[in-house]
Amino acid sequence: MERLPTGVKGLDELIEGGIPKGFTVAAVGEPGTGKTVFSIQFTATGLARGEKCIYVTTEESRESIINQAARLGFDFEEALRKGSLVIIDALMWEYGDVWSIKELDVEELISKVMEAKKYLGHGHTRLVVDSMSAFWLDKPVMARKYSYMLKRSLARWDVTIVATAQYAVTSALGFGFGIEHVADGILRLRKAIISGVLKRLLIIEKMRQTNHDRRVFEIEVRNGEGLVVVKPVEISGDALRRLSPSPYFEEGELRF
Ligand SMILES: Nc1ncnc2c1ncn2[C@@H]1O[C@H](COP(=O)(O)OP(=O)(O)OP(=O)(O)O)[C@@H](O)[C@H]1O
Ligand SMILES: [Mg+2]
Repeated sequence: MERLPTGVKGLDELIEGGIPKGFTVAAVGEPGTGKTVFSIQFTATGLARGEKCIYVTTEESRESIINQAARLGFDFEEALRKGSLVIIDALMWEYGDVWSIKELDVEELISKVMEAKKYLGHGHTRLVVDSMSAFWLDKPVMARKYSYMLKRSLARWDVTIVATAQYAVTSALGFGFGIEHVADGILRLRKAIISGVLKRLLIIEKMRQTNHDRRVFEIEVRNGEGLVVVKPVEISGDALRRLSPSPYFEEGELRF
């Protein structure tokens, strides 16, 4: 099975070398946990290997993604010029911009992605949807269906998908998970205050057909580098309670 490196230093070896080609992987977490940084890195790593990439951005403009990529050390402008990258702007629709969508509508998203795929030409394509949850903001009950539609429509299109999601604990509990149900893999990003410092944590919650590591890891976002896996963490009961709310409850206690 072919695996695609994520480009995150320290992560690929935890998942037997990378994300299996053709998978749909959900990168989920609260605001500021590194979902966009991960998405940019996954894209840049594909581009560096000569792969085609499509990046759908819903919460930031195309400009903002290009700027953030540059801060992390990746030249997206060059890739756009060369025709190996398409950034679909779902935040700022502009007349005449073919790579933007007007409505946060899943069918419109899918058809725009297919158009981009045709433009990029033959071969495998990495697709990032950052974020997928923007498509069900006012209708969380549709989360699972929309995620399924995306995966199913693109199943024969030779794509590997990373979709980010961010939602309130209440909606996750009330309506069940969305993208997680249909995802072949789940990377969960968390925040925690440990000894008075904001730490970022990562757990590989699911990766089908992979003997993945099951520890909680501390990660960092580094300028010029992006996400880096630092070391496994032992979370004390106290620190656990200070973790921001989690959809996981067990006997009244928060669990990672
Ligand atoms: N160039 C950088 N150098 C160092 N740290 C950075 C850099 N860029 C971002 N960060 C850190 O990463 C965090 C933002 O990560 P990111 O934008 O990926 O979060 P996110 O999970 O996508 O959040 P949201 O759900 O709000 O979109 C910032 O708050 C900052 O702490
Ligand atoms: Mg983001």
